[in-house]
Amino acid sequence: MKIIRCKNYEEASKVAGNLISEAIQAKPDIVLGLATGSSPIGTYQKLIQDYEDKKITFEQVKTYNLDEYVGIGRDCPQSYYYFMNDNLFNHVDIKKENIHIPYANPEQLEESCKHYSEELDKTVVDIQLLGIGANGHIGFNEPKTSFEQKTFIVNLTEKTREDNKRFFNSIDEVPTKAITMGIAEIMKAKKIILIATGKNKAEAVKRLLSKEVTTDFPASALHLHDDVVVVTDDEALSLVNC
Ligand code: F6R
Repeated sequence: MKIIRCKNYEEASKVAGNLISEAIQAKPDIVLGLATGSSPIGTYQKLIQDYEDKKITFEQVKTYNLDEYVGIGRDCPQSYYYFMNDNLFNHVDIKKENIHIPYANPEQLEESCKHYSEELDKTVVDIQLLGIGANGHIGFNEPKTSFEQKTFIVNLTEKTREDNKRFFNSIDEVPTKAITMGIAEIMKAKKIILIATGKNKAEAVKRLLSKEVTTDFPASALHLHDDVVVVTDDEALSLVNC
């Protein structure tokens, strides 16, 4: 696991954005695994900038998102479908048919999982971008999820709902379930870039860097992968002696 220490979120976003940008230049038909939430927004802004500066094109890029809430429509601003369009896809030349976001159809949740899992079985993700939950979740794989898990419907923990309520009017509006790529599918990616910045990630980063591998802390599975880059900052590293 390689650690890149940045000063702050802005620098971390540039670093992560550059890693992805360079990878797109080297392989224009790259397959990217993408995350939502606050952590990757700056990275997506850097990618949009590089696209506008004509350094990269998304013409042949394919993307697979990690997760989606169950129970809110794709037209709802809090959905991850909406988020991805708003923060990246609407601003670059990606083809709609190359975008894959799990669709949590409430009528057919099992089928939705099976369908996404089958898509992922056929795919090799070149770079998977991740954030990390305060409880160590990656995607929405909450503590105690098996490292063998494939795409499934997860009951979100109260901690995760509480952390994500900032995107909603109240905690009651935060969905209780989501569809998520499983840890086994995340680990299949050739390279993983995890962004963890700010004081509220300090405990999680400390635990990640303790190197203990346990399902109690899902991100610890990343120690079993041979190409992981953690892009972090001074605040997130504030509890680590280094
Ligand atoms: C989002 C995702 C989650 C987030 C995590 C951190 O697609 O899968 O694991 O990466 O909850 O969220 P932020 O970045 O908002 O702190």
